[in-house]
Amino acid sequence: MTAHIIDGKQLAATIREDVAQRVKALAADGLQPGLAVVLVGEDPASQVYVRNKAAACEKAGLASQVIRLDAGISQETLLATVDQLNNDPGVHGILVQLPLPAHMDSARVIEAISPAKDVDGFHISNAGLLMTGTPLVKPCTPYGIMKMLDAQGVSLWGAEAVIVGASNIVGKPMAMLMLAEGATVTLCNSKTRDLAAHTQRADVLVVATGRRGMIDGTMIKPGATVIDVGINRGDDGRLYGDVDFGSARTVAGAITPVPGGVGPMTIAMLLVNTVEAAERQRAS
Ligand code: GUN
Repeated sequence: MTAHIIDGKQLAATIREDVAQRVKALAADGLQPGLAVVLVGEDPASQVYVRNKAAACEKAGLASQVIRLDAGISQETLLATVDQLNNDPGVHGILVQLPLPAHMDSARVIEAISPAKDVDGFHISNAGLLMTGTPLVKPCTPYGIMKMLDAQGVSLWGAEAVIVGASNIVGKPMAMLMLAEGATVTLCNSKTRDLAAHTQRADVLVVATGRRGMIDGTMIKPGATVIDVGINRGDDGRLYGDVDFGSARTVAGAITPVPGGVGPMTIAMLLVNTVEAAERQRAS
């Protein structure tokens, strides 16, 4: 079997086009949705992500600003910046790029963002709404994965969904979204015994560990849909996923590539979340 390659780039382009239309409609009403991205420090991967997010905003007609702060600033300075953005009526979405420098308490910074402007969906009140089945904002990466599965015609109703990686950014919200669609969800973490025994049962396998190639073809159920969230840079300068693509594609029914799979969808859903935040703030 050779897996169908799920084209995240193409689906993301369709969603971005839809966002651009919604932005045009809002412009006719005198409203331009605005996103502020806060980047603390010089982490090379974060710099690339932030640049891509700002470029996507501009292309879709949103206003975007990137606030770059020195890695050595105090947490109080960062909190003051967030507060200023909370009170800026031209800013409808705020994203503080993670990870933050080690001397900062990420949870405290995230809790300082107004829940109405929390386009990541990481604020405790948005996480709670997701957990109780009434989400206001869905975290961008899991939301994008749900859109991809839907576009592929993959039904989660009664399906075995296995997620490897239990982060607040991907694994945990992913579990909640899949559960809400009727999947039987297994959330694996770094302590999981016999990981392969879990992954081999998965009709849908989502891998978000940040460890290159940790899932190979022997760990995948024939015909499964495999979603690779990893973005790891190899010594050769190329990007690799958390799934060993070469062996996985001979077993899986469908698989996302890296790059060109989940990554573009994350950015597209950030635009959706920002436009929807602007629409809600106008209505309130
Ligand atoms: N770092 C890696 N992914 C993300 C994300 O989706 N949002 C934020 N804020 N930081 C990240």
